[in-house]
Amino acid sequence: MSEKKVTMEQLGEHKSNGDLWLLVDGKVYDVSKFADEHPGGDEVLLSEAGKDATESFEDVGHSDDARALLPGMLVGEIEGGAAVKSPIFMFIPLLLLGAWIAYRAMN
Ligand code: HEM
Repeated sequence: MSEKKVTMEQLGEHKSNGDLWLLVDGKVYDVSKFADEHPGGDEVLLSEAGKDATESFEDVGHSDDARALLPGMLVGEIEGGAAVKSPIFMFIPLLLLGAWIAYRAMN
């Protein structure tokens, strides 16, 4: 089971009408052909291109029927896991620790 890996950069290369990839739950889907038939319209899909569309997708409360369409449009998995968060978040605990040590040293 070796799924194709898609980078955020590659995701960003498919965000136009007719060449549209979406990132939902760590997986990348090619919705190029589906966009025209999407009951929610193609504009919302276009506006979610190139970034993580998971939250928007879940907010709508898509039906099981909608979810069943996903596997047929699968391109691959996003590289680096589901959440492509800015690495700065990983430093916050370290910063807090550093601040605490500095505080202790000064008092
Ligand atoms: C590959 C991804 C997507 C698929 C396969 C999909 C599929 C569908 C389907 C089948 C419906 C009809 C209602 C239902 O069955 O739940 C729907 C409705 C809707 N979708 Fe999506 N959708 C996708 C992504 C998105 C995204 C990223 C948005 C962003 C906001 C979105 C917004 C909406 C909205 C607003 C509706 C409601 C339309 C209405 O009832 O008037 N969808 N979608």
